[in-house]
Amino acid sequence: MGRPSPGPRFPGRRLREAVAAMRLAVPPGVFRPRSDSWLLARWVRAEVRPGAAVADVCTGSGLLAVTAAVAGAGTVAAVDVSRRAVVAARVNARLNGVRVRALRGDLLEPLDGEPFDLIVSNPPYVPAATDELPAAGPARAWDAGRDGRALLDRICSQAPARLRPGGAVLLVHSNVADADRTLSLLRDRGLTADVVERAPGPLGPLLRERRAALERRGLLNPAAAGEELLVIRGWLPAAASRRAGLG
Ligand SMILES: C[S@@+](CC[C@H](N)C(=O)[O-])C[C@H]1O[C@@H](n2cnc3c(N)ncnc32)[C@H](O)[C@@H]1O
Repeated sequence: MGRPSPGPRFPGRRLREAVAAMRLAVPPGVFRPRSDSWLLARWVRAEVRPGAAVADVCTGSGLLAVTAAVAGAGTVAAVDVSRRAVVAARVNARLNGVRVRALRGDLLEPLDGEPFDLIVSNPPYVPAATDELPAAGPARAWDAGRDGRALLDRICSQAPARLRPGGAVLLVHSNVADADRTLSLLRDRGLTADVVERAPGPLGPLLRERRAALERRGLLNPAAAGEELLVIRGWLPAAASRRAGLG
């Protein structure tokens, strides 16, 4: 790593073929991968270098962790607050013949100061009615406080310090959750950060249901026909990490 983004290696049909080759069990109560998951999986495949140490934060079924392991990562750690998700990630690693260390806990906390070459996350990012996060149930996979940033802000604050020199962070979220804030949090912590892909699409059912509230809060333009899924990549140039005493 430690280089500008190479971009996904499997655009279009080749991606669908690569993904179809993955075996994925998604038990009840575990987030079923959606378009944002598959979009980020494509970037994870492109980013992983042989032997890299990868962390997938908010792993759900383990899709991104397994993708990294299949792509040649040396070690892959996966974290989720849901017990069922942790079990699913372990099962899916086994189904695909790769090793993933799946742990239950809050974001990077169970990973105990380990450094990584790549940290990936598709966290909850849907703006909700309140700032109180669900303690259980399906909404824990998407509700993220009134501005949608309860988890994103913490990931952007924590992840840069956990990168090895030249390491990268890959995140996906909707444009309703304020990409400028993601970029500025990552840049403030020494990363070079950009939106590397924008995937426009119709509003999903949750955002449609919450549209009026999102418009009132200025999170969604009333003229917007849909939303954009954004892949954001931040990387820590090796020289900058030495200057900041991180490497
Ligand atoms: C949108 S799902 C993404 C799942 C998977 N990475 C994917 O892309 O399909 C978000 C996941 O974050 C988990 N989660 C929510 N809060 C968390 C936290 N504080 N720490 C770790 N995981 C969390 C949820 O249980 C859920 O599995």
